[in-house]
Amino acid sequence: MALPQEFLQELKARCNIEDVISQYVQLKRAGSNLVGCCPFHSERTPSFTVFRNNENFYCFGCGAGGDVITFTMKMENVDYMTAIEHLAARAGLTVPEDPSSIKARVNKERYFEMNKLAARFFYDALIAPENQQALNYISQRGLSLQTIKRFGIGYADTSWDSLTGYLMSKGFEKEEIRNGFLAGVSQKTGRLFDYFRGRIMFPIFDLSGNVIAFGGRIIGDGTPKYLNSSDTPVFKKSRNLYALNHAKNNTDSSLILCEGYMDVVALQQAGFVNAVATLGTALTSEQTRIIARYANTVYLCYDSDEAGQRASKRAIDMLGEVGVKVKVVTVEGAKDPDEYIKKYGKTSFEKLLRGSDGHIEYTIKNISAKYNLSVPEQKLAFLDECCNMLAGVASEIEREIFVQRISVDTGISAEIIRNETKKRQQKSRRQAERNAVRDDINKSIGYGDRVNADSAKNLSTVKKEENLLGLFLMRPEFIENPTLSNLVTEDIFGCEFTKKVWREIVRNAQALKEGETTFGDAFTPDEMGRITQMTVRRRELANNSESVAIELAESLKKEADRKKDDDGSEESFFKRIEELKKTKK
Ligand code: UTP
Ligand code: MN
Repeated sequence: MALPQEFLQELKARCNIEDVISQYVQLKRAGSNLVGCCPFHSERTPSFTVFRNNENFYCFGCGAGGDVITFTMKMENVDYMTAIEHLAARAGLTVPEDPSSIKARVNKERYFEMNKLAARFFYDALIAPENQQALNYISQRGLSLQTIKRFGIGYADTSWDSLTGYLMSKGFEKEEIRNGFLAGVSQKTGRLFDYFRGRIMFPIFDLSGNVIAFGGRIIGDGTPKYLNSSDTPVFKKSRNLYALNHAKNNTDSSLILCEGYMDVVALQQAGFVNAVATLGTALTSEQTRIIARYANTVYLCYDSDEAGQRASKRAIDMLGEVGVKVKVVTVEGAKDPDEYIKKYGKTSFEKLLRGSDGHIEYTIKNISAKYNLSVPEQKLAFLDECCNMLAGVASEIEREIFVQRISVDTGISAEIIRNETKKRQQKSRRQAERNAVRDDINKSIGYGDRVNADSAKNLSTVKKEENLLGLFLMRPEFIENPTLSNLVTEDIFGCEFTKKVWREIVRNAQALKEGETTFGDAFTPDEMGRITQMTVRRRELANNSESVAIELAESLKKEADRKKDDDGSEESFFKRIEELKKTKK
């Protein structure tokens, strides 16, 4: 990555981290820093901190951290260059063109172009006379030509290479077609074959209107019923929602969340233009955060079967975590919203939406369906489940409303139900605290460390390495200290990750000394979080002098030397025996 340092410094100077973050997070002053509730994990007490002295942020809860560029990457879910562009546009700067970055972006553009051509190809096939049966199928499912156009629906014919041939004639490489999940490679012949054959095609758009992927439904019966693009250079299914490009323009800040493509298309055709769906997977936490940006209420409209209801319960919890209100729509008398609209019409669906239950109501109904309240044991079991559920409701007013309701339903006094609920709240709070402690312990013993996979090997050494790096990050002038520059080389670091951090510190020494922590796109946002943590932890310690750095470096060097000597050979074995003998004497 070769964006000039001067440009990055100018960019960061104009995009003050406090201003940028304030657009997303409400920040409060705390001493010389600012704190707020972390936008990257759910929390009620603020542990997200913006350090004004070095223009970094760090969350003590989830470990997210970095500079204003890292923040933008994480918040907007974009890559490094897109974050730079976003910030540059905000600051009124033009990003200097760099050969390697142009290449990276041209690639993306090419995938968009390839997908657009494929979508057109599919659309043309759908309206071609020889594929009449495909159009018949769509019409029979009730979609108008206008809807077909609005969603860009198409048809992938049954040939094994019509799309591939077409895309190659347009100058696309085999590799690109494959990576874009439009074709596979035959193991026998090495030739490309179209993935989507004999399917109704639903293009998936991003919020800027680019075609990023496809879902294809078989005509009639067959497996798999739907084939979806895997993740590609321009598509991550966990981060996109079907039809959000249309639904985001809806102004009442609600979304209808369904399970399937056809549900969304049918609902939107009937005028419910805020319908969206996940892309063949269960709802992800990334999707809930995107939803929270566009909606404060979600009408959950999953299939009426058991799987759909189970998925609803999960979605209620997940949406609750990002502060979205959930209403549960039960499509009684139909399998899914698509079938419901067809059977009963849009006015009935409208009523369904209006009459939909709040999520607590919905859960209580579900619980009570399981029990016969005139049998004492069952009444007890009903109360037990209800109190557990209410214990998880944050708002006291809401809790009280349902305490009263349950009291009426069961004939048990409201006070008893209220007390029982409180007891369970306390219990689950204690449990949560215990879990947090356990997570901390796991983290501190390096278990499941995604950023530094080597850290489990020798934790105390890793801690020393991170400590030393934290010192250099804080006091980059140490790099010039003669004792230190003699001692510290890449070899004394035992992990790939810490070695790399050291290399980048040396490479960016000048910028660091000028108060910048710019490593360009050398590190992922997760890695940037860890690097920020090194500084933050170090800053909390009282003594950050050169002598501490020297001590750490000496100890790391000794360990590294010992490892080097002990290379497992016969020679090193005897050498160690000799040494042992010497010390015994
Ligand atoms: P459904 O089986 O409920 O299909 O799957 P549907 O949406 O009602 O479709 P129609 O009405 O039969 O045409 C719901 C969603 O699950 C994913 C798709 O995203 C689908 O829209 N799915 C389903 C798959 O990804 N693969 C499958 O084989 C089946
Ligand atoms: Mn359906």
